[in-house]
Order: sequence, then structure tokens, then C-alpha cells
Amino acid sequence: MARTALQKLSALVLLASFTAAVDVAIPLNPAMDAPVISPSHISLSIEGDRWTSWSGTNSRNEFFYNTLDNLKQITGAPPNIRVGANTEDHTMFRSDVDFQEAIFPDPTAITPYPEAKSLVVGDSYYATTRFLPPGTHVTWGVNFGAQNLTAAYLSTRSIVKTFNSPEIKKAGIVLDYLEIGNEPDFLVTHKLRPSNYTDADWVQE
Ligand SMILES: *[C@@H]1O[C@H](CO)[C@@H](O)[C@H](O)[C@H]1NC(C)=O
Ligand SMILES: *[C@@H]1O[C@H](CO)[C@@H](O)[C@H](O)[C@H]1NC(C)=O
Repeated sequence: MARTALQKLSALVLLASFTAAVDVAIPLNPAMDAPVISPSHISLSIEGDRWTSWSGTNSRNEFFYNTLDNLKQITGAPPNIRVGANTEDHTMFRSDVDFQEAIFPDPTAITPYPEAKSLVVGDSYYATTRFLPPGTHVTWGVNFGAQNLTAAYLSTRSIVKTFNSPEIKKAGIVLDYLEIGNEPDFLVTHKLRPSNYTDADWVQE
């Protein structure tokens, strides 16, 4: 027992001397020849099933807004925001839904925040885009995975309505892209296409 404790102590002493030896100098100013990178270099991609947890629902999420605004003050531009990802390929639209109705699997120790099994959204879901900082560039994903043109069309119409609203226009929040479907290699993984589905099939489709 005493021996084990002693071994632990020596390991700690070793660790302490090792960490003390690491000496990192962080310059306060960039080098004169440092390249200039895009002000929106730090940008975010957000899973659609938890979008309104980030944006806020009836009012903006102050924590998220401040985080984006702090970055804007440092870099000169707000981060670009892309919303959708895996979720977009099973997002359904129903006009009478307030914000969103999501069904999540039970959390586990390995996956504490699992992706939703299903998501139905309404106009107010997309409309919360207005809570982003002024000048934000946005990419919204729509459903390709479900092979349901109605879902893709209704979401697209709602997104267009959002970006045509006077409030969003005044804030200079712009839609850069509509992304039609998430990464197509996941379509097989998520059993949205047969196992023989290839990139060529995707291009064709
Ligand atoms: C297709 O999408 C619409 C709108 O999201 C939905 O109401 C309908 O149930 C979907 N159809 C199928 C077969 O999933
Ligand atoms: C893929 O498999 C389906 C049956 O699941 C079949 O109908 C289709 O012809 C196959 N496609 C190719 C390109 O082999």
C-alpha cells in the first residue's frame, strides 16, 4: 500500500517537473508578415434539431447573441451560420407548428445530446434567424433525404419569407445559400437510400 502511494507520488513529481518544463510564449501581436484571413474564419454549423435552443424562440438567446457579437467585435464580421446538417434530411414542415416539434432518442453516456429522430417545423422556426447579429450570412439546409418535394418546397418557401421580412432586411442578415440535402454519403448510413447508392446516383438525382 505504502509502496503504491510512493509510486503515485513519484509519478506526480515526474509529471510536475515535465509540465514545468513546457514553456510556451504567446505573442500579443501578430507577426508583421502574418497573412490576413477572412473575418468570418470562425463560423458555425448548427444541427437543425436544436436550432431554436441556439437562436431563442420568442426573444433572442442573449448568451448565443453575445458570443457571436463578441467575435464580430474582434474580427470585424459576425460568424457565418449554417443550419441543418443531418437533421435537414428528415425535417418536415407543417404551418401550424410553433417553432418545432422534435422527438429525441434517450440520451446515453456516450451520446448525451442525440440527434432527433424526427423534426417538424413551422414558419416561426425559420423566422428566429432574425435573432442573429446584424450582417450575418446564413446557409439553410432543406430536405433532400426524404425524397419529399412537398417538405423541401414548404421549407424553402418559409425560408424565403423569413429573408424577405422587413426586420431581417433592415438588419442586413442575408441568405447566402440554400443547401439541398446534407452530405450525401450519409444517405446510405441513415438508410435514406439503398446500400448501392453512389455519388453518381446523387448527381443524377
Ligand atoms: C412529405 O412532406 C410533408 C411536409 O413536410 C408532410 O406533411 C408529409 O407527411 C410528407 N410525406 C411523407 C410520405 O412523409
Ligand atoms: C440498387 O439496388 C436496388 C434494390 O435495392 C435495385 O433496384 C437497383 O437497380 C440497384 N441499383 C444499381 C445501380 O445497382
